[in-house]
Amino acid sequence: MRFFLIIVTIVIALSAAKVVEVSEEYQTSQKCKSCHLQIVKDWEESWHSKSHYLKDEYFRATLKYVARKTRKSLNSVKVECATCHNPRISVTSTDLSYEIKVLMKLDKGSKVNKATHNSAISEGINCVVCHNIDKIYEGRDSSHRGMNRVSWTKSGTMVGPFSDAASPYHKTEYRDFMDKKSDQLCFVCHANDKSVKGLVFTDMQSEYKKSDKGCVDCHMGSKVSGVAATLRLNDGKAKKRDIRTHTFPGAHVSDIWRDVLALSIWQKDSDIIVVLKNPQPHNIPSGFGSRELIVDISYKKDNKEIDSKSISLTRHYKRRRAKATIPHLAIEASQDMSIPAFGKKVLKVKNVAGATSVNVKVYYRLVNEEVRSILDLKEAIWSKKSLITFKNLQLK
Ligand code: HEC
Ligand code: HEC
Ligand code: HEC
Ligand code: HEC
Ligand code: HEC
Repeated sequence: MRFFLIIVTIVIALSAAKVVEVSEEYQTSQKCKSCHLQIVKDWEESWHSKSHYLKDEYFRATLKYVARKTRKSLNSVKVECATCHNPRISVTSTDLSYEIKVLMKLDKGSKVNKATHNSAISEGINCVVCHNIDKIYEGRDSSHRGMNRVSWTKSGTMVGPFSDAASPYHKTEYRDFMDKKSDQLCFVCHANDKSVKGLVFTDMQSEYKKSDKGCVDCHMGSKVSGVAATLRLNDGKAKKRDIRTHTFPGAHVSDIWRDVLALSIWQKDSDIIVVLKNPQPHNIPSGFGSRELIVDISYKKDNKEIDSKSISLTRHYKRRRAKATIPHLAIEASQDMSIPAFGKKVLKVKNVAGATSVNVKVYYRLVNEEVRSILDLKEAIWSKKSLITFKNLQLK
């Protein structure tokens, strides 16, 4: 019976991405430190450095839950997710014979087990992911993402934004997706994230409203004068360059949520109207499926709270028989409650009799309560409420 279920749930592997082995002197960010120290330090702070399952509780719990519910081996699911989370992995798909080996406990020492446990990929999305992309295949079917959307340079060739860079340690080559077209690089992974049932639960590419700013302008900061490499050249000085930071601040950095949305409130008859405006070129929340905005409303009489309401703007995911699940297993999702790019959302809430003022606070949370409890997430970061904005209104 178990055998049969595995056969029917196995997904046909995508046309396998081509693996290019990275030789040891380029594998980890440690090897870049002597000349690119600040960049390595910045990257270590970023969540790209936490995209390996050992470094992100939420990712790890999701992997295990997907494996259990789809009755696949954990390693097969790891390989699937590696498409974007760990694209330099040396095995790009698994098949039925591997699943059978796992069932018979004959998988020890297999290529797949070695690949998923290889320390070379423990850094997740590191330097040799972005800087070893040779080509991005924009013309490929939009469901081909991560390693299935790119090809890799030869080991030791670093692509970058400069056409005149020279390094004694590695070759350098210019690419426009490191420069004027860097949105393309981000969309290699930040698009078409979908469930095992094919439900696309995040697509930053289709919701994106082009403006004068690209992804890097906000998530790597503006260009500032500095050095790309600290190595001193013949004249005894390091070359001056306009550079950006590699910290990629995003939803996990609590204090940058302040004022990301604009709030206005007013009274209309017996209602309070709450308007949330999003000045960003992509939806908020976005990026991942179970993110949440929370609108807390406190009704006051002479400065004492007499009542309160909390509104959750999030999506709920359903599997068979309408049971609640996580984005990766969903067949369908509830209405999208995010605030659209350059758009707004209007909420109408009832006033409470006797209230003389209201206070509205808007927060962001990484994981909504439903998914937190399904996965039993323990770390405080997932439930933490980051304040975006607040306002008071005197009532008539
Ligand atoms: C998620 C993709 C990504 C990762 C991971 C990444 N980089 Fe970059 N890197 C970029 C982009 C994009 C630019 C071009 C930024 C610009 O100038 O517009 C860049 C630029 C650079 C530059 C040129 C200087 C500059 O700021 O423009 C160097 C050197 C560099 N990266 C080294 C590294 C090293 C070393 C690592 C690993 C610690 C790393 N990068 C990880 C995307 C990445
Ligand atoms: C011995 C010093 C040294 C080491 C070690 C080193 N680099 Fe570099 N790298 C340089 C120099 C020098 C440049 C050119 C800087 C310039 O022109 O401003 C450079 C440029 C780059 C660029 C920009 C290329 C371009 O064309 O825009 C990238 C990306 C890069 N290095 C990545 C890495 C990565 C990743 C590692 C670690 C695997 C690494 N480097 C290790 C010295 C080094
Ligand atoms: C190889 C795939 C890949 C590429 C290319 C990539 N990213 Fe990411 N990015 C990820 C993954 C996976 C994570 C989540 C890691 C985690 O949370 O464990 C992430 C996280 C982030 C975060 C943090 C989000 C948060 O919720 O805190 C930001 C911001 C980000 N990426 C921006 C960018 C930008 C800008 C680019 C283009 C220059 C880019 N990424 C290119 C895969 C990628
Ligand atoms: C005008 C500035 C701006 C631009 C351009 C921009 N972002 Fe963002 N992005 C933000 C802000 C502000 C947030 C919310 C606070 C935060 O997470 O930094 C955000 C959040 C995110 C998140 C986390 C969202 C979540 O809820 O999980 C990701 C991932 C992300 N951006 C990726 C991208 C990518 C990829 C692009 C290019 C297609 C891009 N951003 C372009 C400003 C910008
Ligand atoms: C199409 C590329 C892609 C694939 C395939 C993919 N992911 Fe992701 N995943 C991303 C990106 C990009 C992010 C970052 C989004 C953000 O933080 O806003 C992310 C974020 C996540 C997060 C949120 C992490 C956090 O710290 O908030 C979880 C959980 C996750 N992925 C689980 C998985 C699992 C499990 C699989 C395999 C079944 C998988 N992903 C496959 C691109 C992908």
